[in-house]
Amino acid sequence: MDIQELIAKAIEAKEYAYVPYSHFRVGAAVLTESGKVYTGCNIENVSYGATNCAERTAVFKAVSDGEQEFKAIVITGDNGDYLPPCGICRQVLSEFGKDSMKVILANSTEDYRVTTLLELLPGAFSSKNLYRHSGHKRV
Ligand code: THU
Repeated sequence: MDIQELIAKAIEAKEYAYVPYSHFRVGAAVLTESGKVYTGCNIENVSYGATNCAERTAVFKAVSDGEQEFKAIVITGDNGDYLPPCGICRQVLSEFGKDSMKVILANSTEDYRVTTLLELLPGAFSSKNLYRHSGHKRV
């Protein structure tokens, strides 16, 4: 699976976006460490707040299929420019991706920008921060 193929799958997934409110389609494709690909689109809701972004749709499909380690994600949107993932999606990605996980912002199979999770979400809240450990004072 090369980057171009993964981008093509995200572009295809964008076609399924359910966007009656924003009319703004987003597609995503995650590549798991085991080499599988899961795609997602944004799914809006009349309550607006219950809307699910394309990235989270793809991640949740993968996790519900038993995959918990991701190598890369492609995100592609209708904005005509590189579409950065929202804050909630960055946090969800950090649950499963290492700092080095590639986040590929794609306009087309030829025009894309590769960044990493660390670059997008430095200092992420992680499981290390969840509990108070005796003898350690964390800042
Ligand atoms: N959206 C995504 O799917 N991913 C993002 O990272 C940014 C926003 C969707 C949510 C909503 O359906 C539409 O784009 C407009 O915000």
